[in-house]
Amino acid sequence: MNLLMCLFCLLLDLTSIHSRMLMQSRIIGGHAAAPNSIKYMVSLQSTSSQHFCGGSLVHRYWVLTAAHCNIGEDQMMIVAGDYKVNIFEGTEQYAKPHRLVTHPLYNSSTNNADIMLIKLRAPMVLNKFVSLAPLPRQGTGVVEGHLCQVSGWGHNSVGGGQVPIELRTVTVPIVSAARCNSSDSFNGNITTNMICAGYQSGGKDACKGDSGGPLVCRGRVYGMVSWGNGCGDAKFPGVYTAVSRFRRWIDQTIYGPHLRCFGYR
Ligand SMILES: *[C@@H]1O[C@H](CO)[C@@H](O)[C@H](O)[C@H]1NC(C)=O
Ligand SMILES: *[C@@H]1O[C@H](CO)[C@@H](O)[C@H](O)[C@H]1NC(C)=O
Ligand SMILES: *[C@@H]1O[C@H](CO)[C@@H](O)[C@H](O)[C@H]1NC(C)=O
Repeated sequence: MNLLMCLFCLLLDLTSIHSRMLMQSRIIGGHAAAPNSIKYMVSLQSTSSQHFCGGSLVHRYWVLTAAHCNIGEDQMMIVAGDYKVNIFEGTEQYAKPHRLVTHPLYNSSTNNADIMLIKLRAPMVLNKFVSLAPLPRQGTGVVEGHLCQVSGWGHNSVGGGQVPIELRTVTVPIVSAARCNSSDSFNGNITTNMICAGYQSGGKDACKGDSGGPLVCRGRVYGMVSWGNGCGDAKFPGVYTAVSRFRRWIDQTIYGPHLRCFGYR
């Protein structure tokens, strides 16, 4: 079954030029983050230690990422406390998935509800290098022009070599849904479960391999790298999963539907 899912996923990636999972290039126009400064950022790796997506630790047992990063739970390893991916620095913690929970509304052809929770087999230990991501409240938004930061280990794997690479980050302004959804841009393909970010001149963006990674506004993970059209294209901002639309689903998945008074943070 997992092999099938993996093949399915590869097929999806070959057919959907928009997905940002494959490793082709890295955060565009950004800079290296300070070591271990984004402590809730995790790397999703294949069993052969190839980074393929980012994610955020939202609970000691749970990672938030994009649904299109699902390559099958037997194929995945989650690494927290990382800075230079592919180099052992002594700060890393590794966990295998126990269970993947993809959002029931996820649609791989429209990229709607591109969100998934990964329950870990063993909890991560919170320390100087690993912390939990602050999430936005249900239904809250960020206004156009607000500056947010996206981070990732997306990198170029052409040639197959594993280049040691530090976490990179770039600042991008929020683009209104109206502008992003207009005929000059994504022409009706933006749903209310997506937010867009990028400069009108382009040049700064997330890219392949950054999928699932956090877009942080006002200190909270408002977005997750989801899809786009090229990377850093002036006409097409990056498209992110709108995390605040799913805060209730996240809490209910982690704590169960009845724990209304016991949300984390
Ligand atoms: C995904 O969205 C497309 C376009 O709206 C729709 O035709 C299709 O049935 C949807 N697929 C699923 C699995 O919901
Ligand atoms: C919008 O989605 C349709 C259907 O998936 C696709 O054919 C089209 O290229 C997309 N347009 C843009 C601008 O993304
Ligand atoms: C984007 O445009 C499409 C087609 O007009 C519409 O169905 C959709 O609701 C719009 N998205 C947003 C976020 O308004």
